[in-house]
Amino acid sequence: MVETSQARGNFIHRTCCRICGSTKLDKFLSLGPSPLANNFLRVDQLNKKELHYPLDVYFCNKCHLVQLLDIVPPEVMFKDYAYITSASKPMELHFAGLAKDVVNNFKVSKDSLVVDIGSNDGTLLQYFSKMGLRILGIEPASNIAQIARKRGVTTINKFFSKDCAIKIYKKYGFADIILATNVFAHLDNLENILYGIDYLLSKDGVFVIEVPYLINLLDNIEFDTIYHEHLSYFSIYPLIYLFQKFGMKIVDIKQIPIHGGSIRIFVKRLTKKQSQNVSKFLSTEQNAEIDSLKIYTKFAKKVALVKERLVKLLKTLKNEKIRITGYGATAKGNTLLNYCKIGPDILDYISDTTPYKQGRYTPGMHIPIFPEEKFHREPPNYVLLLAWNYADEILQKEQKYRQKGVKFILPLPVPKIL
Ligand code: TMP
Ligand code: ZN
Repeated sequence: MVETSQARGNFIHRTCCRICGSTKLDKFLSLGPSPLANNFLRVDQLNKKELHYPLDVYFCNKCHLVQLLDIVPPEVMFKDYAYITSASKPMELHFAGLAKDVVNNFKVSKDSLVVDIGSNDGTLLQYFSKMGLRILGIEPASNIAQIARKRGVTTINKFFSKDCAIKIYKKYGFADIILATNVFAHLDNLENILYGIDYLLSKDGVFVIEVPYLINLLDNIEFDTIYHEHLSYFSIYPLIYLFQKFGMKIVDIKQIPIHGGSIRIFVKRLTKKQSQNVSKFLSTEQNAEIDSLKIYTKFAKKVALVKERLVKLLKTLKNEKIRITGYGATAKGNTLLNYCKIGPDILDYISDTTPYKQGRYTPGMHIPIFPEEKFHREPPNYVLLLAWNYADEILQKEQKYRQKGVKFILPLPVPKIL
């Protein structure tokens, strides 16, 4: 049997592409070793050894999937999870729109079952419930699954898999809608997941995925969205390859503005119908030459330049005794901070609205996290916008403080003072 992975201490290194199995893989960027991006530390953990893992990015020459090959066991990453959907108001609005989009464009009946993979605190499912549909969440993080249950969202505290799909079918029947928002990129064994989807999805059902889009990542130099949880950086081309293996087809794609530029993909069993959007996306990808390693080596050079400029800017400000804080203790912020080595000597603290993160410290760089009231009470001179994906909302929300002179620093694609 061909070896497809090797155990390397506390993580696994894949030796072949997670979609096509090819071993023609080229490493083009190394951002680590890094700690886990959502592993916010309590004060008693600060002096303990923190595990670091490689954060290397590869390009598959055969199916063009951009991916990580060093895999931290999901049980380690998702057992106790810090991200909660309802902490970000813009995500609530976004999910309300997603529920409407799906129900308006695909056939559902009153007793249709909606299954959400990686259902978090149940925010998205609640919108389907309000429309009278049956809902079921699958959420591996037990702390988050508990929150969802308290809100009345039936939630299975497990990783989705083929076995899990069989159990769901036996108890609830087929699903007309299966959702996977911001979770598909987290999955290593995509084939097992697809077996599960294939088993559970009704004949005419729709599988809806939202993932950050590789083209946006490359265009806006969003290198900070690379962290161990995100194993794949999707474009349409490799996804078509994946779904074809299961007799499924992408029937429509929409560009959506969340998380720095994402795509919403609708997948059905093989059907003749396909929106023209699919070929439009494919030709955009061809024009961007995402099939050639050259693009990725260029990207890596741009990443190094962002680091150089950002660190220079922050150090210059700091030398002038200017007070700087961070805004939004995001997971991606931790890639940025660790890669650029920005610590508490530069950022006094980071403000964040998530109660779980408040009072904790960022992984690796150990910057303390405080509720946003601290930012309002003692505004800094400059603030590094780590939650840049919500730039519009945050700049508007903090308008009063900006008028008082607080300056926001946008780190990407080129460090900029606003
Ligand atoms: P996300 O980018 O993964 O959605 O995480 C956003 C983080 O930023 C989350 O921890 C909540 C925080 N946040 C704030 O602190 N203030 C805000 O106004 C917004 C929109 C988010
Ligand atoms: Zn491949």
